[in-house]
Amino acid sequence: MCGIVGYIGKRQAYPVLIKGLKRLEYRGYDSAGVALITESSGLQVYKTKGKVADLEKYTDGKDVTGTIGIAHTRWATHGEPNSTNAHPHISASGQLAIIHNGIIENYAVLKDQLMEKGVEFRSDTDTEVLVQLIDYIRTKKNVDLLTSVRMALRMVIGAYALAIIDKDNPDQIIAARQSSPLVVGIGDGEFFLGSDASPIVEYTDKVVYLDDQDIAVINRNSDHVEFVNVNNEKIDHEIKKINLNLSQIEKGGYPHFMLKEIFEQPQCLMDCMRGRVNVDLNNVVLSAVIDYRKELINARRFIIVACGTSWHAGLIGKQLIENFCQIPVEVEYASEFRYSNPVIDNRDVVIAISQSGETADTLAAVELAKKRGAFIFGICNAIGSSIPRATNTGSYIHVGPEIGVASTKAFTGQVTVLTMLSLAIAKARGTIENHEYETLVRELNAIPEKQKQLLDECNEKIHEIAKIFTYARNFLYLGRGYNYPVALEGALKLKEISYIHAEGYPAAEMKHGPIALIDEEMPVVVVATKNALYEKLMSNIQEIKARKGRVIAIVSKDDDKVRELADEYIELPKTLECLEPLLATIPLQLMAYYIAVAKGKDVDQPRNLAKSVTVE
Ligand code: F6R
Repeated sequence: MCGIVGYIGKRQAYPVLIKGLKRLEYRGYDSAGVALITESSGLQVYKTKGKVADLEKYTDGKDVTGTIGIAHTRWATHGEPNSTNAHPHISASGQLAIIHNGIIENYAVLKDQLMEKGVEFRSDTDTEVLVQLIDYIRTKKNVDLLTSVRMALRMVIGAYALAIIDKDNPDQIIAARQSSPLVVGIGDGEFFLGSDASPIVEYTDKVVYLDDQDIAVINRNSDHVEFVNVNNEKIDHEIKKINLNLSQIEKGGYPHFMLKEIFEQPQCLMDCMRGRVNVDLNNVVLSAVIDYRKELINARRFIIVACGTSWHAGLIGKQLIENFCQIPVEVEYASEFRYSNPVIDNRDVVIAISQSGETADTLAAVELAKKRGAFIFGICNAIGSSIPRATNTGSYIHVGPEIGVASTKAFTGQVTVLTMLSLAIAKARGTIENHEYETLVRELNAIPEKQKQLLDECNEKIHEIAKIFTYARNFLYLGRGYNYPVALEGALKLKEISYIHAEGYPAAEMKHGPIALIDEEMPVVVVATKNALYEKLMSNIQEIKARKGRVIAIVSKDDDKVRELADEYIELPKTLECLEPLLATIPLQLMAYYIAVAKGKDVDQPRNLAKSVTVE
């Protein structure tokens, strides 16, 4: 879950690397470092605990010249986040520098073996073992860098995206991938490396996404990159064009990416539905459902695998698919599923949901389901990432890069795709009445406009409410039916960015335990829209008030009762019950955001978290 960047070419590498690291900082920000082969002083490595801005301060006044370099922003796995454990790591001879994203699982055995041979280690990291091993092979066997990298990677078990440079060869970078993402950008007489395309996008739109076991040999004076595998067999790669513009990955006047991404949701959902939802023709078209109609409409069962926020979207997907398609759905944590012994076969369809498309647990769940014969459908955001490449088919959510670590627009994008998927399958199976289908298509299409209206109306009010509740040490979030996952999502948002403990519950479960927590200190957020369970939710609110709890209610515009009971309320535009999560989630995202800001927390980069969880 670290970010890696590399550059070789005609310009100064340092500014390219620093800018790239800033773009990738969402992947980890415990420490940062850069290795350059400078014109005057040879291989120079600068690294420090903290963020990329700390690295910039650290390099101030130092020699950062050179047209080749590699850089890293770290999310610690092995070894505490300090400057010694920061990347790049240097081999004991001082010859090689490496950056690495992933985990070398057999690092302890390899380290023991190298130490027995007299190799001295400086850090506690698994990565240092890699560079020491490569250098050991290189000198002992007297082979070139590529050969030693190939030989070392044959001995390594684990995940890696890595880049390595040799102090005596300022004309070459070698990079490799196994289970962690890596992209090579191909410019005019220059080459770039990135964990994703964001560090590359402003220099070139030509990229190659490495596959597992690929090694890229990037030579300064070549017009192409050579790809081989660990056995030195040549690999051909198609050059892809990236479709990402700079404004999508910058803050655009907002103080934080998270706020920008919350406000982008109406546009994102329009992008997500473009060409798929057509009100004039009254239909929803997903190309995957056309291409794989048989597999999808005849599914015996759907199993949704995902983590975190994507798992919450999956809980909404279950209700949508079961209600409209009449097909049973199970929702599994990918991390549990991957180590279970699931009874699945080729009549099952597994839906993998992942914003990053790189989550290690979700990817492993996909591989397991594939082995057992299931048909795999991906719902992802990052184009060309590992999960879409491992699936049989799928639908991208098309919400643009999500940079704030707390997921916001990806959640509503995922729920939108799940809604379209369930409608398309239900129509094809004939399990939905025409008039219901038409109403749903119309209402789904109207959601972006209603989100806009909601954002306009509630933003300031939530800002004020957030100030009142910054004191709280605990929060409870309640919802029912489609809004139960919304409660879970609201609680997750609050805890991850404000570090306030929060629990999401189905409202009726409160009386089975959590009600004991309620007193005058306890804010309870209740999604209490006017739907079939409205009266029941009102009873839950009365139970809270009877115990002096403080209720923040999310209510429908035509609500007349809950607002009377609640301490604070936010009104939602009216929509169909199954589409309410696309609106009700927004005030909860904003509330978490404003509470975290009021508490002075680092909203976009909360402690201990990273955007892309490519480790177990
Ligand atoms: C929460 C959050 C995480 C992710 C989870 C899965 O705001 O961002 O819970 O949802 O790590 O990530 P993806 O969707 O990339 O697989």
